[in-house]
Amino acid sequence: MCGIFAYLNYHVPAPRREILEKLINGLKRLEYRGYDSAGVAFEGSNSEGPCECCLEIIKQTGKVAALEKLVHESKDSVDFNRQYEVHVGIAHTRWATHGEPSPTNAHPHRSDPTNEFALVHNGIITNYKDIKSFLTQKGHVFETETDTEVVAKLIKHLYDTHKDSKIKFRELVELTVAQLEGAYAIAVISKHYPGDIVATRRGSPLLIGVKSKNKLSTDHIPVVISKGHSKTDSLEDYRGYLGSSGGRRTDEETEYHTTGPEKEIEYFFASDASAIIEHTDQVIYLEENDVAAVHDGALNIHQAATSLDKLDKQTQTFREISTLKVAIEQIMKGNFKSYMQKEIFEQPESVVNTMRGRINFETNKVVLGGIKDYMNEVRRCRRLLFIACGTSYHSAVATRQLLEELTELPVMVELASDFLDRSTPIFRDDVCFFISQSGETADTLNALRYCKQRGALVVGITNVVGSSISRESNCGVHVNAGPEIGVASTKAYTSQFIALVLFGLMMSEDRISLQKRRQEIIQGLKELPEKIKNVLTMDDRILQLAKELHSEKSLLVMGRGFNYATCLEGALKIKELTYMHSEGILAGELKHGPLALVDEAMPVLMVCTRDNVFTKCVNALQQVKARHGVPVIICNPEDVDVLMEENNNSSQSAQNQKVGQEADSKRQRTIEVPQMIDCLQGILSIIPMQLLSMHIAELRGHDVDCPRNLAKSVTVE
Ligand code: F6R
Repeated sequence: MCGIFAYLNYHVPAPRREILEKLINGLKRLEYRGYDSAGVAFEGSNSEGPCECCLEIIKQTGKVAALEKLVHESKDSVDFNRQYEVHVGIAHTRWATHGEPSPTNAHPHRSDPTNEFALVHNGIITNYKDIKSFLTQKGHVFETETDTEVVAKLIKHLYDTHKDSKIKFRELVELTVAQLEGAYAIAVISKHYPGDIVATRRGSPLLIGVKSKNKLSTDHIPVVISKGHSKTDSLEDYRGYLGSSGGRRTDEETEYHTTGPEKEIEYFFASDASAIIEHTDQVIYLEENDVAAVHDGALNIHQAATSLDKLDKQTQTFREISTLKVAIEQIMKGNFKSYMQKEIFEQPESVVNTMRGRINFETNKVVLGGIKDYMNEVRRCRRLLFIACGTSYHSAVATRQLLEELTELPVMVELASDFLDRSTPIFRDDVCFFISQSGETADTLNALRYCKQRGALVVGITNVVGSSISRESNCGVHVNAGPEIGVASTKAYTSQFIALVLFGLMMSEDRISLQKRRQEIIQGLKELPEKIKNVLTMDDRILQLAKELHSEKSLLVMGRGFNYATCLEGALKIKELTYMHSEGILAGELKHGPLALVDEAMPVLMVCTRDNVFTKCVNALQQVKARHGVPVIICNPEDVDVLMEENNNSSQSAQNQKVGQEADSKRQRTIEVPQMIDCLQGILSIIPMQLLSMHIAELRGHDVDCPRNLAKSVTVE
């Protein structure tokens, strides 16, 4: 949620226009994280000092394209051709939490009308009201409704308090964030520190790309750990503290000019790697409470120790400079109309990438390298918990039955927010899986920390390498679906599904009684890519169906057994993309309430594929038809005749059925997906719903990559 991008160009000759292009381009890559408004702030400095115009801030409501237009229109007031020795800029694309989307509420936020400090923020400052009332009493005038503005004003307040002591920029930011509660990733620039930038994170992701003309002389950045600034609890103390210089750190610090100063070096700060990869593959993932500062072209990272105990034992650690493995094509749309379409059509390959190197189809052995060393512990556990949000949660629902069968352990599937709300009891011998495409979802990450604190083994199942969940778990699996940029999750779901199936197969490799079942599943996995291709050939047929349905108000999705998750996930796709009301209904629950929704006007999608609940699904179909419902049936080709017969029989008993429809036109009300072993069928049956929701959304004129009010990577609770 919200995308931060910042750029510092040290002695790489370029006019300001190019710097702005880089900032805007970075925002475009991060747009999927939020698209309510966007903004940039930038400055240039020469050795004799900052440019005379100081910090420029340009912001606009809406998507990055709107900001880009405004930036172009500003060329009369801002000298875009001007070239400085050092350029630094920060940029932000917003998903609104506090304050409606408007140019004023857009980031960057400024400390004062003369733009002494400007900052961008991703996260939520939960104690912003206290800070705001304190600063208001000190005479600061607030211009926005956001939580973030307090940080910009607090920095200025502390700067004014400490400027006589010539406080360093990094120290100033450390002092400021010590007063904050909540979650943040922040990047700040200031006219008082020309050519410098400071960025820090707690609870929201941030990484730094480094690009140097010469090979970097190091593969790691030393981190100085030092005693942190304290935050006192009561408002009175707090006020006193802010007004004094108490709390300043007393220990002497060493400055590490670890990446330089190189003659020519560029730094890219971003919420995720997609904004960095086109510039450099050398990145540093900041850890919680890291404060990274670039001064005079050199990057330094500091961290406030969370306890004195930690400080006694360790005063220095390192942040690796890692090499990104993502290729630029993976984050481009190519010839597809949308990222979502690209990602749906990538599934024949993405599922292979999830399985690659993990299944031996000759020996039926499955090895997930990231968890193999923990398997003894996992096998001995009391129960398995799968904790996630949204689509990732559905992948756990989709595989729960199989995991119960293959592991013979109690399996709990939990929505992360509810799991935390209930303070669910967790024991040391529990094994807790955290499934998350982004690896940054705040609820899932908080649940992970909660379980880790209680001594459970925590296992991450993520798609983003280097994400917080993958770094904070004891072990885990990367689903390797490749970057997912469309806000609605598609290929990550099918890959999470497979990763969980692989885990089940690994757990059951020694169970003699399960060998036949395992072989059938592994055979099913082998056939999966071709069968997915087959489903994708139905795109035109699904577009026709979308044309029939796109002006409906509601769409119910029903099924049961292995396909219950398909219904939940299908309904989620429909509602988030088309803004139609949609519900995933367990067919077994139909007569306990939802049947009341059914009449001749209510569109229904029914999943009726061949498994041990097929007959029960047919019963549900009859119940719907008996209430004059006209379902579209997702089924296997072999069952079309039998299901249409059921349809016709029930239709005859229905009073208001249109009569005389041709058999062929009735067939049109089915979507046929190839038959697959029961536990993997959901991977095929979700794809028509992904396509259907995409087409309906497009027919309704919606942007399928950026559904309203949503954002990828939900880093707020
Ligand atoms: C729906 C969707 C969301 C995410 C959810 C969790 O299409 O994408 O429901 O699945 O926000 O996100 P991750 O998987 O990143 O934890």
